[in-house]
Amino acid sequence: MADRSALITGITGQDGSYLAELLLKKGYQVTGIVRRLSSPNLNNLAQVLGRVKLVDGDLMDQSSLSQAVKSSGPDEIYNLGAQSFVGTSFAQPVLTGEITGLGTLRLLAAARENAPQAKIYHASSSEMFGHVGAEPQDENTPFHPRSPYGVAKVYAYWACVNYREAYSMFVSNGILFNHESPRRGLEFVTRKITDGVARIATGKADTLTLGNLDARRDWGYAPDYVDLMWRVLQAKSPGDYVGATGEAHSVREFVQAAFETAGISDWQKHLRTDSQFNRPSEVFNLRGSPAKAKRELGWEPTTRFKELVKIMVEADLKRHGENSN
Ligand code: NAP
Ligand code: GDD
Repeated sequence: MADRSALITGITGQDGSYLAELLLKKGYQVTGIVRRLSSPNLNNLAQVLGRVKLVDGDLMDQSSLSQAVKSSGPDEIYNLGAQSFVGTSFAQPVLTGEITGLGTLRLLAAARENAPQAKIYHASSSEMFGHVGAEPQDENTPFHPRSPYGVAKVYAYWACVNYREAYSMFVSNGILFNHESPRRGLEFVTRKITDGVARIATGKADTLTLGNLDARRDWGYAPDYVDLMWRVLQAKSPGDYVGATGEAHSVREFVQAAFETAGISDWQKHLRTDSQFNRPSEVFNLRGSPAKAKRELGWEPTTRFKELVKIMVEADLKRHGENSN
């Protein structure tokens, strides 16, 4: 019988699946909220199916969240569910606000009613810093979001702080910078690059077409960041923590490193740009300071840029080598 139980929204996503694996290893009983899809997408959960309990629910639906909290009786709640793709948030701003912004408030209300003692981790984002005025960004850097996604995350961030202050609940924000892995969705730039490079290396494609190559991000490795999420909830008191590597690289540098890892040196001839992938308002440069997380939680990222690129390229090369499409 597990002595601690955790409830995860977004368990089918990149972070949710790694977090479920980590919590199972630590002996937690894990419940994940899964929304109804016509074709269930449980690929990321392959390693934990049968060991986690999946319950129906949607961040758009208050009663299903209340029911999930009530039935799982969690000691810890991790709110990772979101419409998380910045590009889509410009095309579907209201839906993004509903899921990513109000969805967080719905979960907080469900927790307050059904498990007020549970510790809550909320997945805040460096996208909230947006048009940054200071570098590196830390817990005190002002927010200036540049997308409907970023705006929704700022709303959710403050909803969490408000529940902490108004109701003395243990609610913490992890303000995480970009973190990637072979489980990253194919629309995000790192995975689009490593998948594209693997297609070119295996003769399935000839070109990779991207948007702004000069954007810079602080890219880390997702398994490191789910460890930080857990540590945030083991702190004595709730608070807000930046998770980052402290290093920024451009999209162009990621592209070059990915092609070189695949052994393609004439990479420039395979690269195109197309303004359809540019955003109406761009976040040009993000680089975070993880000093507080290191000082208070003993957290440090283990995997740096070159190693991250290698892990992702090798996984996509393997996948494309094994599959014909
Ligand atoms: P992800 O792979 O896109 O996963 C998002 C998860 O949210 C999926 O499980 C998805 O379920 C679920 N979801 C979407 N709409 C929902 C709804 N209406 N009700 C319930 N669940 C819903 O994202 P991720 O990269 O793992 O990120 C996890 C969280 O961290 C997100 O909140 C993201 O915004 C935030 N974040 C991510 C990063 C990063 O670099 N990865 C950085 C900062 C913050 P389906 O499988 O059904 O679509
Ligand atoms: N997706 C994508 N596709 N991005 C491109 C492309 C392209 O073809 N070409 C250039 N980029 C640039 C984007 O303009 C952006 O500046 C950068 O690459 C990173 O884009 P994404 O990988 O889509 O991630 P993001 O930084 O917008 O958002 C991610 O990180 C946030 C944390 O800062 C997501 O995971 C968010 O959910 C997360 O909160």
